[in-house]
Amino acid sequence: YHVSINESDTEKGTYPFYMLKEIDEQPAVMRTLLQKYLDDAGKPKIETDLLKALNQADRLYILAAGTSYNAGLVAKSIFEKLANIPTEVQLASEFGYNTPLLSKKPFFLFLSQSGETADSRQVLVKVNQWGYPSLTITNSEGSTLSREATYTMLLDAGPEIAVASTKAYTAQIALQTILAKALGDVRQQTTATDFDVKGQLSIVANEMQSLVDEKELINSLAKNYLATTRNAFYIGRGYDFAVSLEAALKLKEISYVQAEGFAGAELKHGTISLIEDGTPVMAIITDKRVASHTRGNIQEVKARGAHVLTIAMDSVAQPEDNITFSDVDPMLTPLLTVVPAQLLAYYTSLNRGYDVDKPRNLAKAVTVE
Ligand code: G6P
Repeated sequence: YHVSINESDTEKGTYPFYMLKEIDEQPAVMRTLLQKYLDDAGKPKIETDLLKALNQADRLYILAAGTSYNAGLVAKSIFEKLANIPTEVQLASEFGYNTPLLSKKPFFLFLSQSGETADSRQVLVKVNQWGYPSLTITNSEGSTLSREATYTMLLDAGPEIAVASTKAYTAQIALQTILAKALGDVRQQTTATDFDVKGQLSIVANEMQSLVDEKELINSLAKNYLATTRNAFYIGRGYDFAVSLEAALKLKEISYVQAEGFAGAELKHGTISLIEDGTPVMAIITDKRVASHTRGNIQEVKARGAHVLTIAMDSVAQPEDNITFSDVDPMLTPLLTVVPAQLLAYYTSLNRGYDVDKPRNLAKAVTVE
């Protein structure tokens, strides 16, 4: 299968590592998705048969691995909110051998940057044997998962070369938002019909640009908080919790810091025992319903010596917060809060002298189960 790739897409140019280039490309990736998947009036352009099949489904099963799984966790809430369809997210490797009871009319959504992940493919093979409809959202045209699924949608994020996934995560969330909006429109959900997906994602693209422009600030925070630590925590609630998992994964993958993402409230149910003098805790705060609770969690860990770094959206921000950004639709905050986390991981790895793009023991696509 032949795929043409633009020369400049695979060159690092002036960037020391692909990962930084790919982080920087995210605002442009958002705009490309808007152009490709929305018409001039801002209405989603989605294959009619795909929408029909989705509309007939009574439950969505999102299957993925690694960072794509983390993008699925965010998308679950977006599908449920905009399209009113119950959605489950499962690790493909677990689902394959511990298949849950399925609904009457399941629809399977495979998320895979490479389109080649064996853990995901073994589920798709079964889904095809069962005869259920499926969609693969991938960044790789002609990949195995895109060829074998009933439907396929391309992320068009351009080649992602760094092993640690960045722009594929944000592209997956944005494209699923467009898809959820399209399905919600068909189902006449006011949450969808009232949602200006074009306007909102355009605001996100601009705000993303401001965040990627904060490299100096974020590098200094990485030096201050993460230079020598062996472990770290991200905490948040709701969408901020989902992003915490991806933020921690980035740090683990490329800087070898043992990091965990935690739901803010769960800390006190166990993990708080790990907080010591100087333990870095990164708190993500965007949801006004729970902001004060997360602030409470910050006080709890500070009292035990934690070194707390905060990433907050303006409407819930306080003057002492380290990284802030303008308000966007609460559903779309993961597209923004992940950016400083990607950069914190990048600079921590860089400052420790590691090969950011090729972390030890990891492969870009894992084609064994
Ligand atoms: C590998 C990569 C991860 C990626 C995961 C899933 O483990 O190192 O960065 O998230 O596979 O890959 P996929 O191509 O299916 O999204």
